[in-house]
Amino acid sequence: MHNARILVVEDETIVAMDLAATLRRFGCAVVAVVDNGEEAIESAARHKPDLVLMDIRLKGPMDGIAAAKTIYEGEAVPIVFLTAHADVSTVDRSMGSSPYGYLVKPFDDGELQRAITLALARRKVELSEHARKDDALWEIEEKFRLLLDSVHDYAIILLDLEGQIATWNTGAEKMTGFPPEEMIGKSVLNLEPEEDRHGDRLRLHLEQVATNGRAELEGWRIRKDGTRYWAHVVKTPMLDRGGRIVGFVAVTHDETQRRALEAQLLQSQKLESLGKLAGGIAHDFNNMLMVIFSRADLLLRVNGTVEPQRRYISDIKSAATKSRDLTQQLLAAARRQVLQPQVVNLNEIVGSTMQLLTSSLGENISIRTHVDEKLWNVYADPGKLHQVLLNLAINAREAMPKGGALTVETRNVRVDEAYVRQRPHLREGDYVQLIVSDTGSGIAPEIRDKIYDPFFSTRGRGSGLGLAVVRGIIEQTGGQIWLYSEVGQGTTFKIFFPRVRESITAVEEVVDDSSALSTRGSESILVVEDEQLVRTILRETLEEQGYHVLEASREAEAVALAKSPDVKIDLLLTDVVLPDRNGRTLAETVHRLRPQLPVIYMSGYTDNAISDQGVLEPGMRFLEKPVSSAVLLRAIRSALDAPADDAV
Ligand SMILES: Nc1ncnc2c1ncn2[C@@H]1O[C@H](COP(=O)(O)OP(=O)(O)OP(=O)(O)O)[C@@H](O)[C@H]1O
Ligand SMILES: [Mg+2]
Repeated sequence: MHNARILVVEDETIVAMDLAATLRRFGCAVVAVVDNGEEAIESAARHKPDLVLMDIRLKGPMDGIAAAKTIYEGEAVPIVFLTAHADVSTVDRSMGSSPYGYLVKPFDDGELQRAITLALARRKVELSEHARKDDALWEIEEKFRLLLDSVHDYAIILLDLEGQIATWNTGAEKMTGFPPEEMIGKSVLNLEPEEDRHGDRLRLHLEQVATNGRAELEGWRIRKDGTRYWAHVVKTPMLDRGGRIVGFVAVTHDETQRRALEAQLLQSQKLESLGKLAGGIAHDFNNMLMVIFSRADLLLRVNGTVEPQRRYISDIKSAATKSRDLTQQLLAAARRQVLQPQVVNLNEIVGSTMQLLTSSLGENISIRTHVDEKLWNVYADPGKLHQVLLNLAINAREAMPKGGALTVETRNVRVDEAYVRQRPHLREGDYVQLIVSDTGSGIAPEIRDKIYDPFFSTRGRGSGLGLAVVRGIIEQTGGQIWLYSEVGQGTTFKIFFPRVRESITAVEEVVDDSSALSTRGSESILVVEDEQLVRTILRETLEEQGYHVLEASREAEAVALAKSPDVKIDLLLTDVVLPDRNGRTLAETVHRLRPQLPVIYMSGYTDNAISDQGVLEPGMRFLEKPVSSAVLLRAIRSALDAPADDAV
């Protein structure tokens, strides 16, 4: 009570003076003494007293109860009424100003002192409760803020009823790359790709969320830097205590990586089954094709000058050739073809392929090549790289029926950590990049995922194997392919091959000269082949050239022959896929018995028996079925004539 600042409102001057004097005696400060309601209100606002002593009857139109109500509502100053009218109705009317006490006149000093002390004490308690409540509220708010901002992996976005961003957490800032001041107050559509920004759709969507109480969806979203992320979003309505919808909460998780992994898994499952299918077909099919080719060749030799037989035979051969190519393409697409890689420089491949292409692309397509003269080497099968470039160039031509430009570039690329973030499939390291661009029709976004699928084609005449083969070869070689395309503008394929540090070794000319060599011989050749028709053809072909042929249809028979010391064997020609074992284990067994024996493997499909993921060991002699007799005889002669320790 000491030092309490008190406003006295009393219309009778003598009473007021007396009251003020008493209060001062108590140690209080009297901030003002007024006699009417208006002045009381004004004075309370100006002095902000700790307490008002308010007479009920005042001068002027306003009585003490009305004045007290205004003061209490405005300044929340506690009021003690002084009255001679402590009747029920007056007390009732005074409730609106939450009186802190009544003093009925006449009162003595003790009563006054008690009333003031009580009112001030009550006020003190109220104030500290208030402060506590404020503190508690602040604490809850702070906890909520911390809660939201500690969530880093999820974007939590509060939307108003129209879908404008009311606020968001740091997770949202991190995910979108936008600082809050750039997005708060803006429509959530700004986070979506431009093609999806329809106001009507958003409105309908929010209505649905309101009706169903929840919505879960996935879709592309855009970061500030323009890159996209695949968002999984759960939206729920925000309700106030009365159950009215006051906005929406969107909780978003970035699922880009999961989506990529899923796609990868799906892709590898597809490849696995395609591989099984292609492998199964290729093995039997190539055996049959070998019979067809070889018999057609034989017929050609006999009837080659007689028409129309010559034409019939050549039709058979070209049909067989197409079948062989198709089988080969299927294997390539399934990454199961046999690669014979060597250290090569892509510039050479580009040079030779472009030379070949110039005439076939037509006059209205201009060709530009930009090659890096200091291009690093890669380890790849040059024939297959040639095929990659050819397929891409043909696609480019097809995409530019009215003409345009085809650009082929090579360059060295150093892939660092930042680069890997953009292309998660790549590993850090050095790569050689091949870029093939056209100014053609472009590829619509909705088919970009499909173009590498075998048999996917938008062209009537296309088989849809071109890009499947391209990707198969690239990935079997350890590379990666990417696509950029703009409808109506053109398409760019970017291919990465891992760099190798070895330098190119000169190709042995011996192989090329072998066409001039004799194909005849008198040596003994052990032919291991389970398909009887093929075995017969091999035997006939070899015997015709003077060789002595031993036949076996399975490993056990071959080993038995190799074991018997009286049997002379100069070369082993074996199929890779055998009913009991495979050609590789057979060759190993035979080598234990006859260490220097040269071996030639033959297969339509190897199933990793002699190769690691289709990559042959250097120096291994391998013939891909269907093998023509010319190729077979040349290979046999060169194996027999090679120095003994050359055999694998
Ligand atoms: N450079 C390109 N420009 C536009 N579209 C392309 C381009 N390259 C490929 N495509 C699209 O991808 C599809 C698949 O290509 P792919 O090479 O696998 O098959 P294709 O060319 O249709 O047939 P094939 O190559 O077997 O004759 C094409 O049909 C075409 O729609
Ligand atoms: Mg094609």
